[in-house]
Amino acid sequence: MTEYRSVILGVGSDLPGRVVTNDELAQTVDTSDAWIRERSGIEQRHIASEGEFTSDLGARAAEKAISNAGIDKSKIDLIVVATTTPDLTFPSTASIIQEKLGIRHGAAFDVQAVCSGFIYGIHIADSMLKSGPYEHALVIGAETFSRILDWNDRSTCVLFGDGAGAMVLQKQKTTESGIINNFIRSDGRYCDLLYVDGGPSRTQTVGHVRMIGNQVFRHAVKDIAIAMKECANSAGLEPNEIDWFVPHQANQRILDGVGKKLSLRKEQVISTVAKHANTSAASVPLAFDTAVKDGRIKRGDLVMLEAFGGGFTWGATLLRF
Ligand code: ACO
Repeated sequence: MTEYRSVILGVGSDLPGRVVTNDELAQTVDTSDAWIRERSGIEQRHIASEGEFTSDLGARAAEKAISNAGIDKSKIDLIVVATTTPDLTFPSTASIIQEKLGIRHGAAFDVQAVCSGFIYGIHIADSMLKSGPYEHALVIGAETFSRILDWNDRSTCVLFGDGAGAMVLQKQKTTESGIINNFIRSDGRYCDLLYVDGGPSRTQTVGHVRMIGNQVFRHAVKDIAIAMKECANSAGLEPNEIDWFVPHQANQRILDGVGKKLSLRKEQVISTVAKHANTSAASVPLAFDTAVKDGRIKRGDLVMLEAFGGGFTWGATLLRF
């Protein structure tokens, strides 16, 4: 029987023009460049300007991914947007992006799994391409996380940034490339360790990010390592046989901790956390696009994506580019 795979036809990303360095932040928050670099590896973040929304970043990343895929955008029949910072409570940011792109058919919806959203979105799009009538999916991770930060809380506001990344997936009869395996999990017992203290139903406000960072850190290292091992093992591989790892960019120390647990070489792990900070659902496609554009990830390479976020949610995707 011929196997269908979701092949990554194109990738793209977008960052707001405004860069905020650690030193600039230290002028308004009780922190320092040295503390932020040592605890997280972050040097700077991009912050959306007034009037620049999640859908603007997402639509720009999508345009670049579609152009990189070399297809006409009228071919896109499924849009999945992973975001925790939608333009509005409804309609979905996916619907708004669909309109901005001028796409008039197919389905569009948002996925909410916080920083793991892109991995969830890829799994959903991959399943829908393989089982449904869809041919070309656009999966976007887009965030204006700066809008839900408490800029007086130094334990969270220094860690995040804004941005977007996108992938175009095409259903193909092949086993040569495409998505090989997905692994997603959630454990709602840990809602209180990483959450936003507002929402339409409970407070009728947007709220701000709250996090017990050191506890999140411990869970992240353990759960990401398990997800990556299970995802690789299900494909008959050990993690260190994979060419590239594109992790969620939360903290360089998490990347190093997971790498150590799985005996990965530092050069195998794509890190953009220094320049982008944590862009939540956008971080994986942003890092992937960065490594494709700078020539590290090449066609034919075996790549693992992974993420961990609020919920807790976590997961991994194994693919051949
Ligand atoms: N500048 C200076 N000092 C600070 C800052 C700051 N920006 N923030 C906290 N501190 C202080 C604390 O007040 C504390 O001081 P105290 O010892 O006097 O009480 C001290 O630094 C140590 O605080 P910890 O929280 O224990 O520091 P830690 O080494 O754990 O680093 C960090 C904090 C960077 C948040 C880390 O725990 C982390 O990265 N956690 C995981 C984050 C993550 O992965 N999130 C998941 C995804 S995000 C999502 O899903 C939305």
